[in-house]
Amino acid sequence: MDSIPVLPTISTTFIVLSAITVAIGWGQIKQRKREAHKKTMVLAAVFALIFFIIYASRTIFIGNTSFGGPDTVKIYYTIFLIFHITLATVGAVLGIMSLYSGYKNNFSFHRRLGPITSFVWFFTAITGVAVYLLLYIFYHGGETTSLIKAILGF
Ligand code: HEM
Repeated sequence: MDSIPVLPTISTTFIVLSAITVAIGWGQIKQRKREAHKKTMVLAAVFALIFFIIYASRTIFIGNTSFGGPDTVKIYYTIFLIFHITLATVGAVLGIMSLYSGYKNNFSFHRRLGPITSFVWFFTAITGVAVYLLLYIFYHGGETTSLIKAILGF
């Protein structure tokens, strides 16, 4: 692949936007701007959802791309990818819990959970960008196999 891949570039941009909006939302609550904090965090969730919709559609209809770099690097890439997927899954669950506790005005819980969620989300974005660079920019992406093709054969 010689050109920059369109969908992975767009979806990675949305994870980064989501992490940036979480940082802005944290800054707002530090200044006691509750309404602004709420709006910014909902926007961060929308960015994360857009990422997820693009990522899931690509996985189902086009497929996942395997690592195209040298075999000596592949094992480190795989371990790193599993670390990133774990962070993203934990981040999504914590994100939903943070939104819910915020909406329900459960602030004693929310105040403790918010910073943890934010840090997990920052590391999800950083490792997500690293996976994107390793998969598409530093090395050429390997084979792409569609889930539908793998299951149904078309
Ligand atoms: C509907 C959504 C949300 C509402 C209404 C909301 C509301 C609030 C409020 C009122 C506080 C201040 C609590 C206090 O000082 O007593 C707070 C703190 C905080 N929230 Fe949210 N929040 C929402 C979503 C989120 C999300 C999704 C995250 C993380 C990704 C988050 C992260 C934080 C952080 C980091 C703090 C500051 C904790 C501290 O430093 O003391 N919030 N939130």
